[in-house]
Amino acid sequence: SAAPLVLGIETSCDETGIGIVRGSELLANVIASSMEEHARYGGVVPEIAARAHLEAFGPTITAALAEAGVTLQDLDAIAVTSGPGLSGALMVGVGAAKALAVSLDKPLYAVNHLVGHVGADVIGGEAVEYPTVALLVSGGHTSLLLVRDLVSDVELLGETIDDAAGEAFDKVARLLGLPYPGGPEIDRAAIGGDPAAIRFPRGLSLPKDMQKHRYDFSFSGLKTAVARWVEQKRDSGEELPVADVAASFRESVVDVLVTKAIAACRDLGVPRLLLGGGVVANARLRQVAEERCAAAGIELRIPPLTLCTDNGAMIAALGAQLVAAGHPPSGLGFGADSTLP
Ligand code: KG4
Ligand code: ZN
Repeated sequence: SAAPLVLGIETSCDETGIGIVRGSELLANVIASSMEEHARYGGVVPEIAARAHLEAFGPTITAALAEAGVTLQDLDAIAVTSGPGLSGALMVGVGAAKALAVSLDKPLYAVNHLVGHVGADVIGGEAVEYPTVALLVSGGHTSLLLVRDLVSDVELLGETIDDAAGEAFDKVARLLGLPYPGGPEIDRAAIGGDPAAIRFPRGLSLPKDMQKHRYDFSFSGLKTAVARWVEQKRDSGEELPVADVAASFRESVVDVLVTKAIAACRDLGVPRLLLGGGVVANARLRQVAEERCAAAGIELRIPPLTLCTDNGAMIAALGAQLVAAGHPPSGLGFGADSTLP
């Protein structure tokens, strides 16, 4: 049978994302963002995000259908992010998805946003081989996973014990007077900077033996170290070398992420690594992961830039895998689960 045509809906944070895939083939990926409305608050305001989803949903789905050249009747299934994320924001997407599923009489799949991020790696590529190690780095999560099956068997190896990596980027950007979201701003500010200018701490450096925290991460100490360094420089009246600070901070985050991901591949004898999540848009992370994985003989999959940050295509792609694997639809009885693990 032909690969399933699936529409994916993503509204967990500040992006209204509608994607359409046929199996692993990307047909449309349309995103409306309320980012600019949150910028002056220094972070996403839940109430504003929810209202923005409501306004953006109609135009976004219309644009996605046009881009894909399909109609709603053509769809084989609908997939929607049911969590984790902001409750009010999630409810807009879940409500809209249910309305579509009922009116069109199509099967509906509730999917986990975080698994969706890793699911982005199947789009436009060959099938992923399992087991694989996956590193998920976003604004809310930093998790190292052993994935035996993307749909039914994801084991958590380690995660951040304090701030998420994206959160660290956002906080350090703020400290440097750069706007939200901080990741792309730090990437830009780091151009021409020396990553070895300042030796910032590597939180929870890889312990030698298989002990507690081997695969866990910590970024709050790093953030504090950067804050202290910046403060001292300012107190001394010297000009702040923003490019060096940005490059050195970024180097510390990237070093720890890649070191631990490769260690997990080695320890577990799994020579495959998937990266997913907004922080994977980071230029230095992409470069260092590619270099070190090549040197270690690890096959690396990185989503294209547009599929790293929140989008509907990754949700559609995960939905298509659920359909292909013969999973039963979720029905209409599920809700938005802001704290879905
Ligand atoms: O996955 P995502 O779009 O939303 C969440 O599920 O959290 O990730 C957003 C996070 C933000 O913290 C943002 O600063 C970070 O991803 N980010 C980046 C870059 N682009 C986005 N971090 C580092 N470098 C980037 N180029
Ligand atoms: Zn996300």
